[in-house]
Amino acid sequence: MRHNRHRIRFFFFASLLLCLLFSLPASSHDPITTSVTFNKEIVRILQRSCLDCHSPGKIKGDISLTSFEEARPWAKAIKEEVLEKRMPPFQAVKGYGEFHNAYLLSQREIELLVSWVEGGAPRGEAKDLPKEVTANWSFGTPQLNLQPEQPTQIPTGEGDYIACVKLPTKLKQAQWANAIEFLPSNAQAVLAAEIFLQKQCGQNCATGEKIGEWVPGQDAIQFPEGSGLYLPANSCLTMKIRYQKSEQEAQERGNLGIYFAFEDIAFQAQRVAIKPIPKLIAAGAKTPINAVYLVRETAEAVAIRPLLFPFASSVEATALRPDGTAEVLIVAQSYRYDWQPSYFFKQPVKLPAGTRIEVIAHLDNSDNNRNLQDDPRARKFSEPLAELTLAKVKTVPTSPATKATAQSDAPHKH
Ligand code: HEC
Repeated sequence: MRHNRHRIRFFFFASLLLCLLFSLPASSHDPITTSVTFNKEIVRILQRSCLDCHSPGKIKGDISLTSFEEARPWAKAIKEEVLEKRMPPFQAVKGYGEFHNAYLLSQREIELLVSWVEGGAPRGEAKDLPKEVTANWSFGTPQLNLQPEQPTQIPTGEGDYIACVKLPTKLKQAQWANAIEFLPSNAQAVLAAEIFLQKQCGQNCATGEKIGEWVPGQDAIQFPEGSGLYLPANSCLTMKIRYQKSEQEAQERGNLGIYFAFEDIAFQAQRVAIKPIPKLIAAGAKTPINAVYLVRETAEAVAIRPLLFPFASSVEATALRPDGTAEVLIVAQSYRYDWQPSYFFKQPVKLPAGTRIEVIAHLDNSDNNRNLQDDPRARKFSEPLAELTLAKVKTVPTSPATKATAQSDAPHKH
């Protein structure tokens, strides 16, 4: 007993000493050799690219970077993470597919972060701090703003809480949506959400047509010009929302904003899940699994979302056109359960009728896969490897009358 206590005390002091030694060089007494300051440049980069995850209650709320006091102790780690391109996390490997929601820092931003850290990580002047940032609609007020009748009560405790929110559109006439955006009222509590379209509000949430998702940092779901999502009269949008429980009771009552399309819609957005032929994978096996989707009518790929967490170590999708050309749509790695965004193509990718979309996921069903929660065992795979958002020639007969409303409210963002 005594012996143990001595040991604990020894370790306590030893680690205290180590902490002191290691924290000294990073203390605020480093000479300042840079003009880059937290209040001027750094805070803006963090707000744009990091705080969706690094603020209290978010995915990585234990490393909060919202203020100088919080970020300063992490300065050296920030430099390392951005130089190694580990932060912000991004699954799409550079060089395959070009995405406009690329969550990567620019070279200039990386240089600013590095100069700030190497130059002593100064705070800067109070007057340079940006005014409070608040979440806002990406394209101004949406034409249709849906809010649940009741807020969701998030129970206390640990882990996730899944809620189903049904949002009747109450549309008298069918409409085309050009963009859809979820704005949580309590973003700290929301981990992720999936959005579905149902002809009318049904019993279940996650049924009907999947139209998109929300993950931290992801902008609105936007369809390229001339394409849109057809919302039948009286249809219903449902959301399966995953909340983070905490010690305190919390509520959330986010808005789902719909931006109507004002131009003529020629292409209908549609999401397809690309599923493999079910395959049994032995315990401990590392093996690829593939799935093919045949494009029957000429279409354009708007976005792609690689899936199959936690088994896939990577997912690749390639379009093989009938003329023999091939185009890699995405190569994705480093999955996270709480971070599975859609990647929107900078330029929609042309997919003539007859194009085959081939998706290969490299599975790791062995002990080496750190994402697996339980022991490896034989598993049957039938889950989609990817979801592809297509815009294809409109086949819906009714032409909704949306043009009456103000033209200037149409979403524009570039
Ligand atoms: C999508 C969520 C997300 C975003 C955005 C994000 N991070 Fe992280 N960050 C994480 C997670 C999760 C971890 C924990 C490590 C892991 O699981 O990869 C982490 C870990 C870190 C760490 C600690 C690494 C260590 O030494 O343990 C630093 C520093 C960091 N992030 C900095 C940043 C910076 C700077 C940005 C913005 C440029 C950023 N992160 C953006 C999720 C995010």
